[in-house]
Amino acid sequence: MLDLKEISYQPQTGERKLIDNLNLKVNENEIILICGKSGSGKTTLLEIISGLTIPQKGKITWNKKNFSSRQRRWLCGLVFQFPERYFIGTTIGKELKIGHKSLREKNIDIVLNKVGLKKINLKQPPEQLSGGQQRRLAVAVQLLRNPSILLLDEPTAGLDWSMKNDVKNLILDLKNKNTIIIVTHEPALFNGIQSRMLILEKGKIKNSIKENHEG
Ligand SMILES: Nc1ncnc2c1ncn2[C@@H]1O[C@H](COP(=O)(O)OP(=O)(O)OP(=O)(O)O)[C@@H](O)[C@H]1O
Ligand SMILES: [Mg+2]
Repeated sequence: MLDLKEISYQPQTGERKLIDNLNLKVNENEIILICGKSGSGKTTLLEIISGLTIPQKGKITWNKKNFSSRQRRWLCGLVFQFPERYFIGTTIGKELKIGHKSLREKNIDIVLNKVGLKKINLKQPPEQLSGGQQRRLAVAVQLLRNPSILLLDEPTAGLDWSMKNDVKNLILDLKNKNTIIIVTHEPALFNGIQSRMLILEKGKIKNSIKENHEG
């Protein structure tokens, strides 16, 4: 279980606390949605969980063990909003290998299979993929690091309907096998996938609107 206890964060240049005594528990292999108005701090919260932003106060544990910000960087895989903007590999194969000293072809195959890109030509540039496939590739890049927690910031933003569905199906494939936190403005799209939908408001997790026990 991921357990955030009394987390507070105020950016140095900010006038107010973006995250204010926030508590959040996420079970292993649970998928939760986090919604909230623009500017409510959703991306900031993902950055805190993944160790990229250091809160002034609070404690974060994973399976009851304390994890520092630095340790959380390898515990978590964060897929930024519009991840395709940050591809730097000249080919899909190179993109997948960034940050890995050695990577077995077999592991690449397993991950590409997981994200539904099994038959992709690794020699083509990532830009040649469709929008939905690019999002899948961005998830694959993170899965190769074998993170315990996958964090997706607006995974369907800017995609057309068929590609949004593509991303939805990907998350459906990862269900029950991965702990996933999804920040989204489109909760309806993920209906039935998530176990809980939470609202971030005034720095706190406000309430759970929908409990879904379908599995
Ligand atoms: N380092 C910083 N200094 C000052 N203000 C900041 C800093 N980082 C974020 N903010 C402000 O904090 C607020 C929350 O930002 P954040 O990006 O987390 O919101 P969000 O909920 O992800 O919004 P959106 O839905 O638009 O993506 C914004 O108003 C932003 O301008
Ligand atoms: Mg954001």
